[in-house]
Amino acid sequence: MASAVVAAFSGVDAQAKVTAPAGARIFRLDGAGVTYAMGVDDKGYLQPLYWGAPLAPGDPLVSTDPVKTGDPVLVKAPGELSGFDPAGSVTLQEYPGQGEGLVNDPGIKTIFADGNRDLVLKYKSHSVRGETLVIELADINRPLTVTLRYTIDPDTGVLARSASVRNGDSRPVRVDQIASAVFTLPVSDDYRLHYLTGRHAAEWTKKDVAITPALTVLESRRGSTGHGNNPYFAIGKDGVTSEDAGPVWYGALAWSGSFRVSVGQDNLGRIRIMGGYNPYDFSWTLKPGETLDTPVFYAGYSNAGMGGASRTFHKFEIAHILPGGEKAKPRPVVYNSWEATAFDVTEIGQEALAEKAARIGVERFVVDDGWFGARNSDKAGLGDWTVNRTKFPNGLKPLIDKVHTLGMDFGLWVEPEMVNVDSDLYRAHPDWVLNYPGRPRTEGRNQLVLNLARTDVRDHLLGVLDKLVAENDIAFLKWDYNRNWTEAGWPQVAVQDQQRVYVEYVRNLYYILSELRRRHPKLEIEGCSGGGGRVDLGILGLTDEVWPSDNTDPADRLMIQDGFTQAYPVAVMMAWVTDSPNWANTRTTSLDYRFLSSMQGGLGIGANLDKWKDEDFTTASKWVAAYKTIRQTVQRGQLYRIDPPVRDNASSATMYVSQDKRQGVMFQMLHSSMWRDNPAPNHPKGLDPARSYAVSVLGGGALPDGVPARASGAYWMERGLRAPLKGDFVGTAFVFEMKD
Ligand code: DGJ
Repeated sequence: MASAVVAAFSGVDAQAKVTAPAGARIFRLDGAGVTYAMGVDDKGYLQPLYWGAPLAPGDPLVSTDPVKTGDPVLVKAPGELSGFDPAGSVTLQEYPGQGEGLVNDPGIKTIFADGNRDLVLKYKSHSVRGETLVIELADINRPLTVTLRYTIDPDTGVLARSASVRNGDSRPVRVDQIASAVFTLPVSDDYRLHYLTGRHAAEWTKKDVAITPALTVLESRRGSTGHGNNPYFAIGKDGVTSEDAGPVWYGALAWSGSFRVSVGQDNLGRIRIMGGYNPYDFSWTLKPGETLDTPVFYAGYSNAGMGGASRTFHKFEIAHILPGGEKAKPRPVVYNSWEATAFDVTEIGQEALAEKAARIGVERFVVDDGWFGARNSDKAGLGDWTVNRTKFPNGLKPLIDKVHTLGMDFGLWVEPEMVNVDSDLYRAHPDWVLNYPGRPRTEGRNQLVLNLARTDVRDHLLGVLDKLVAENDIAFLKWDYNRNWTEAGWPQVAVQDQQRVYVEYVRNLYYILSELRRRHPKLEIEGCSGGGGRVDLGILGLTDEVWPSDNTDPADRLMIQDGFTQAYPVAVMMAWVTDSPNWANTRTTSLDYRFLSSMQGGLGIGANLDKWKDEDFTTASKWVAAYKTIRQTVQRGQLYRIDPPVRDNASSATMYVSQDKRQGVMFQMLHSSMWRDNPAPNHPKGLDPARSYAVSVLGGGALPDGVPARASGAYWMERGLRAPLKGDFVGTAFVFEMKD
């Protein structure tokens, strides 16, 4: 096969190639540990050919029914399987239009002005622009084109795919569905789909199900990502894929609005994964000459099991999605007022908390809800982003100055996208919310959703936030979002444009966030939505951290953190130590245990320090100091699941290893003692077997009997070790330091 490399580029320690020879009918992308390939068949369809472990250069890439007709290899389109399965329904297409008998989820579904709903996309052209492979498909006789974009990351093999549709007709074309990408895996009956689901205060629950001809749909119809299914998937093979070995295909959609990801087997046993805007209640009428772009769908492959997949994805996310990339500062130790004082925030009260927070080594003090407007409960004030002068008679400045004097920076809570009916903003602009005229406006937490799709609303919010940050020395905004959409009307635009709201809203949200960051480059932002209701690769590109859940119970939290980190990195995952018993489940736990749980993320403290005793401050100071010695490893290192915290598992162990392998930290957590148990040791992972490591107990204390102070990485990983934990909700952590 003659093939010319038309783009080659380097990452940190790898090379990627996009191979798309002139006049060729095969396209191939190669990144670290991954090859992805497509080909144009003899009828002009673009067919997926391969996605998985790297192939040798020049390896044949053929469809299941190939005929070789010289150079290059030609991919053959199948004929009909039976009268019930016409060719159009069995041809595997990289990005099918809804037409010609397609019976699986399409990439795109359209209706033309004359009522034609048949869309058949065939290869038209390709080019390589920089590092991006661009393939243009066109309908067989209508002037509608779809452009597919592909890049591959040299260091991780993560693909970035997106699509655009352009209406070249002189009349409008309505788009009812458009995917960012469709992925294909070869025929097999042993695939399992792993996904993350949940609800408020119970996010990030891991599920896995067999992939069968019954389609599994992961979606949000709520206007935002939602607490339910996250737009993330991982697919392994039953009995083959484990935490540490076997193939995993995974991906996540970079979109913070309603989305749909479907996974299923077609009637020939092939696996199709489709993801993009949710077609539910959505349409976009493309004007002549207009283009609609999709979000990016990132996807990767690992042959090192679920653990390998998440470590590779974390690496990619840190380097290419998060603001600041690999050089971003680690998350500071934060104090947040919410669970301590709720809406009862005052200058005097917050200053007293700030003094106590500073004593234990907190680096950022955040005033949560309640500082603005008439915000004495959740019934009023949202929308009025001016300081409540009863609570802060002199504005925020005295508190901010005090926080600075104490050596911390200052953060503030906002929920810009919402409005209470009892607010000056709503009284002035009742038309600014999502609504259908004459219909009820359903409230959630006593609030309505501002229609950010409107440019006047967008500009108002940007102006208010810009002023707030410019006039106060604010280092950090906690950006909250506390309800789902209802009555998603946008009555001010033409009827055929109203359902654009699902896209325009999110685009304007991204615009406000990015513009705010541009105007205030030192500002950091936390994404929050009643906990983890809006975590995805779209919002993560514009925020420095996220709040994974309002559930701060330290035992539940271990499971929440385990679920979260399947898809997203510890680098952004905040975790607070709060009061016990916990509000979520009234469970009582020790302060030590709460710290050991929270120290496995970005450490925060949300307890009411006014109620703490001296010994609590001593305990907290010890753990905060200890955390600062390992946080780079925890937040930015490699995560190894040794014994995952899952329901019915009495204990768990998780390990974090610095990128240079010089430090490792293994947390052991005991949920509940059973039967005078004599548990097996936990085996560290990720250390350099050939180097020597000294081990110590995080925060001080004696090593368990029989554990040497120093041994090789191989020794620790082979022999394992375990603390003699007894009781319920106890834990410890071992620190491994490489010795030269
Ligand atoms: C929901 C958030 O998740 C909480 O942390 C807190 O900020 C409240 N909103 C405040 O209303």
